[in-house]
Amino acid sequence: MCGIIGYIGLKKATPILINGLLRLEYRGYDSAGLSTIEPGGLSIMKDKGRVKNLYKLDGIDDLVGTIGIAHTRWATHGKPSKENSHPHLDNSNHFAVVHNGIIENYNELKDFLIDNGYTFYSQTDTEVIPNLIHYYYSKDSKNDSQRVLRAVQSACKSLKGSYAIQIISTYLPDNIIVAKKDSPLVIGKGTEENYISSDIPAILSFTNEFYFLDDFEIALIERNNIEFFDLNLSKIDKKVKNIDWNAGSADKNGYEDFMLKEIFEQPISVRETVGSRLTENENCCFDELNFNKEFLLNINKIYIVACGTAMHAGLSGKNAIEKLCKIPVTVDIASEFRYRDPIVDKNTLCIFISQSGETADTIAALKLSKSKNATTLAISNVVGSSITREADYSLYTHAGPEIAVASTKAYTSQVVLLELLAIYFAEILESYSFKELNNIKNEILALPSKIEATLKCSDDIKNFAKQIYQEKDVFFLGRGIDYNTALEGSLKLKEISYIHSEAYAAGELKHGPIALIENGITVVSVITDEQLVEKTISNIQEVITRGAHTLVITNKNLPTNNIDKVILIPDTYTLLSPILSIIPLQLLAYYISKEKGLDVDKPRNLAKSVTVE
Ligand code: F6R
Repeated sequence: MCGIIGYIGLKKATPILINGLLRLEYRGYDSAGLSTIEPGGLSIMKDKGRVKNLYKLDGIDDLVGTIGIAHTRWATHGKPSKENSHPHLDNSNHFAVVHNGIIENYNELKDFLIDNGYTFYSQTDTEVIPNLIHYYYSKDSKNDSQRVLRAVQSACKSLKGSYAIQIISTYLPDNIIVAKKDSPLVIGKGTEENYISSDIPAILSFTNEFYFLDDFEIALIERNNIEFFDLNLSKIDKKVKNIDWNAGSADKNGYEDFMLKEIFEQPISVRETVGSRLTENENCCFDELNFNKEFLLNINKIYIVACGTAMHAGLSGKNAIEKLCKIPVTVDIASEFRYRDPIVDKNTLCIFISQSGETADTIAALKLSKSKNATTLAISNVVGSSITREADYSLYTHAGPEIAVASTKAYTSQVVLLELLAIYFAEILESYSFKELNNIKNEILALPSKIEATLKCSDDIKNFAKQIYQEKDVFFLGRGIDYNTALEGSLKLKEISYIHSEAYAAGELKHGPIALIENGITVVSVITDEQLVEKTISNIQEVITRGAHTLVITNKNLPTNNIDKVILIPDTYTLLSPILSIIPLQLLAYYISKEKGLDVDKPRNLAKSVTVE
């Protein structure tokens, strides 16, 4: 999705802005631009295409301004083009604005502004914002230092939809103003300088101190001062948060791509996520939660709500909670849940999973559950992200920044966190044998070294990828918990290799999909559940008989005679197996994408953080 960068300080803004945009590239975009406050007025440099093209624009090297705003656009209203790129200026060229989000009432506002003499030069919803600010500025008869702020306030009050905006103005040459509703925005606090971004990693090399803007808040930013206001312009006291990610974790560190680096970081990310929540011979501990037996006994059902990969992690959470705690769990897609009128009440626990913590549908689903009096629990990888500020309780995965669009280490961290949560509940509820729980806990502690061992399959997977990278369709099969892995493996493949793939519960094969199996088609199966080995093997035989080319990921000793390739991974407790069995599938997607010469980290049409509906 769109990305925002801002700088105010003593240095030339342009190189800092472009460098920040390059760090936001992973979010997905189709055009880029920036604006600085120059001695002669506002500069505007923008075009469709990559951020690095900005360096080629006439006059970019002449910019000297030390205050500027920048943007990468992911087209929603209007095709990717220079005119539609941000920043947008008002008709008088006194206000420049960049915007993330969608202004739902822009047609209405545009008509109003046209009636008041304004002209529009783009097809975007954003262009109404600078003109609206200008409109309110020109209507304000009081010419004091707050005039621009009041104009921004009035404009924000008129906007419906979602926005994170940055504004610079010749009328306020020592400030940047930012405002937000339903789109993320952080302010990085420096010394004699401040940074603005739509996410933390882009400015992590400059500071570890961040302010998180909440909905309906405005910030007036100077080089060495930041003031926060609500929409009535009453001052807000906001605390700075220290983020302990190091800048190096947002770099490739010698790996060819972020995705490969993140796949190989999984022993660490899982270890960090387990952290002090689990120590040998102790009960599982979540300092962030104060759930007791009475509270958990009153929970009649649990919803786990998320999107994409995070939803797939939720599926393994369901397996664990239902097995260990005997509480029914429904896993729902956030974009469905929010419009379903779900049966949620004060005895429902709703768990929301989001790596970024900024996914628009997940946030909306969370707000809906709160309105129905449910207890809400957010699981996110980003400290201070929107879902964590909205939920009653928050837990963090400690995967470190995930830059590649395709989620890998965040997924395994989410699964391990949900396993720990299930154990924590089960220990309070006394709903499962303590001896068995201890066995699972020991297995969790052994996971980092087992992930290391699993990663050794990398070369075998690379060779298999070379055989199948030109395929048009790939099928993924699994039963029980392995079906979750099949779903996630299939999603990874389609995202970064653009190969059509489908995941099926292996038992469903006969009910339709087997019609698609023909000579040479690739079928990838996952088999880790002892009780279901025979069943899945039978399904594999059925596809082999019909000419399929087969890859099996397993921790069992299988009769391998007519399977083309078997990847043997370390054995573990069945509930934990998705954390290991997904790794060969992540690598498969990665190597196929590389064989095809694609941009692994920035697949087409996709964005890292889906902040609009
Ligand atoms: C897939 C992927 C997406 C995200 C989904 C939710 O690799 O990354 O499917 O999982 O967009 O994102 P978060 O977890 O940030 O809410």
